[in-house]
Amino acid sequence: MSKLQAPKGVPDYYPPDSENFLYIKNTLAAAAISAGYGYVELPVFEDTQLFIRGVGESTDVVSKEMYVFEDRAGRSLALRPEGTAGVMRLIAEHSLDRNSLPVKLWYAGPFFRAERPQLGRYRQLQQVGIEAVGINDPALDAEVIQVADQAFKSIGLKQYQLHLNSLGCFECRSAYREQLTAFLSTLDLDPATKERAAVNPLRVLDDKRPEVKNQLVNAPQIAKSLCRACVEYQQEVEKYLLQSDVHFAPKPDLVRGLDYYTRTTFEFEHSLLGAQSGIGGGGRYDGLMKAIGGSDISGIGFGIGIDRTLLAAQAEGIALATPNQLDIFVIPLGEGAKSMAVSLVHQLRSNGFKVDMSYGDRALKGAMKAADRSGAKYAVLLGESELNSARVQVKDLTSSSQTDVPLDKVVEFFSNQAKEG
Ligand code: HAM
Repeated sequence: MSKLQAPKGVPDYYPPDSENFLYIKNTLAAAAISAGYGYVELPVFEDTQLFIRGVGESTDVVSKEMYVFEDRAGRSLALRPEGTAGVMRLIAEHSLDRNSLPVKLWYAGPFFRAERPQLGRYRQLQQVGIEAVGINDPALDAEVIQVADQAFKSIGLKQYQLHLNSLGCFECRSAYREQLTAFLSTLDLDPATKERAAVNPLRVLDDKRPEVKNQLVNAPQIAKSLCRACVEYQQEVEKYLLQSDVHFAPKPDLVRGLDYYTRTTFEFEHSLLGAQSGIGGGGRYDGLMKAIGGSDISGIGFGIGIDRTLLAAQAEGIALATPNQLDIFVIPLGEGAKSMAVSLVHQLRSNGFKVDMSYGDRALKGAMKAADRSGAKYAVLLGESELNSARVQVKDLTSSSQTDVPLDKVVEFFSNQAKEG
């Protein structure tokens, strides 16, 4: 039978790389937790309407890349392409915004977009994201950006830049939309792009095709159309960022790929990742909650790509912690020893040690190889003669020194070793 493969564009992570993946995910999450964000577990699929109304029909993410299917009752469902719309649905459904504001939440997990796969661009992508909802305050915008920056710094990343823009509020944006629509009508665009421009002209600014990009050089920029309140808001955000030691570069043509953004928008780009350089991004969204049937409150958040952050850390040659290293590998030699080993492994694990043992009645040589490969610091050898004298041999796998330890003192021995460091 032919060998089955993972679906196209879906990465597998397995040891040792999966340990690094987990480490990145946990480190990114730690930055959110330390800023007071609470964890939410979101459904992986939602009512398709949530994304149509929330993320926007004119976006590639919704119109071209969404995995949509019908359940047995004929309801249209979609695999979540991103997390923000789901968090808004959850807040509205459970009235979390009735309590004190802002509601600050974080999430992590897989998202699904049928993009053209390449290194760093996957059909199942993983993100850690945060959302701070219900308060319009530039200090909160700065906090969200600072948490993302802190998350990257705590991994040790250095070669990234933060790009910042404001997309204005509904008022100044509508004046800008008119200007942009007039400009776009003078260009030579294909029918699909024209149609897109009619739904949301800002989407055209995000077009990466050279034939479109080249025509956009003189496109009007939102920065020049911002109303006074939006300009002041942005200045405040920048002031707080500087106070938090977050370096940024203004990018007046940054529009982002999702429709819900207003005012503050940002993207983190890594300089060693080539075409898929966006390691995280986000912004403020004023109308999103209302668009999905919730109250008229605003929010701001980010999504950081775990896959790309891992690639970035590897590109910078950062030695990531391998948190899952075994302490002890137990080797029974003989049937009686195996029974004893099973009890000893249980006892050691109950005392907090990370322990594995040799299975399949392997001879000493093969079992020692397995012990070395396991990454454990110590091997515990249990042979028939040791069994008779109720003693074991503890081998330090780094120095190769060996210690004879009474069976009933093994836990104590390792506890002392742990204390000594
Ligand atoms: P996004 O920019 O679409 O924003 O995605 C956030 C991050 O996810 C990107 O910067 C990138 O690192 C990663 N990512 C996106 N697509 C892929 C892909 N195909 N393969 C690998 N990584 C990918 C959002 O999703 C918004 N929900 C962020 C947000 C939260 N805005 C406000 N709150």
